[in-house]
Amino acid sequence: MKLHASPPSPFVRKVMVMAIETGLDDRIEPVFHALTPVAPVKALNRDNPVGKIPCLVLDDGQAFYDSRVICEYLDSLHDGPKMFPADGAARWTALRRQALADGLMDAAVLRRYETVLRPEELRWEEWNRNQGLKVQRCIDALETEVEGFGDVLDIGTLSAGVALSYLDFRFPKMRWAATHPKLANWHPVFTMRDSMTRTEPPAG
Ligand code: BEZ
Repeated sequence: MKLHASPPSPFVRKVMVMAIETGLDDRIEPVFHALTPVAPVKALNRDNPVGKIPCLVLDDGQAFYDSRVICEYLDSLHDGPKMFPADGAARWTALRRQALADGLMDAAVLRRYETVLRPEELRWEEWNRNQGLKVQRCIDALETEVEGFGDVLDIGTLSAGVALSYLDFRFPKMRWAATHPKLANWHPVFTMRDSMTRTEPPAG
């Protein structure tokens, strides 16, 4: 399977962490792109009309996107403990946590583009501030959610851990851990997982 990817993307990292945790990583061949919303990649657009990474392309040419669909597809390929609980409260909780973490990553990536990519004279401070507030609300919600994480590794806790690591990577000055003590306890343990150390994005 081929994965359209870009190493700094938290959504790509989420998929790769999922692949490592489920023993599928050696079946995935990443194809790296220097992609931004204003530098589209033709080969990616052919496989994913939305033009976004990650996009998983099977050997028969079938393409899956976005990270939620890819992760659930990967979960169908292995016989180990499932990362998407099959049903009941555990499933809805994991899906809600995934949506919360994905929402955090969406807002953080948009802020990153706004502050690094968009020409200075076109920047919209109010928009940027509101993306920042969205990130803050998501961290606050995760601080409540983390009480129920325990030792569970599923798509919800995995996504939360990757989302917080993206903040540490791109927004170190935010220092979310200083104001969210329960997450600050949980996250360093998560980041020590082999799947996280092996998917550390390169600096820059
Ligand atoms: C980043 O550089 O932070 C980034 C790159 C690609 C996708 C998302 C984020």
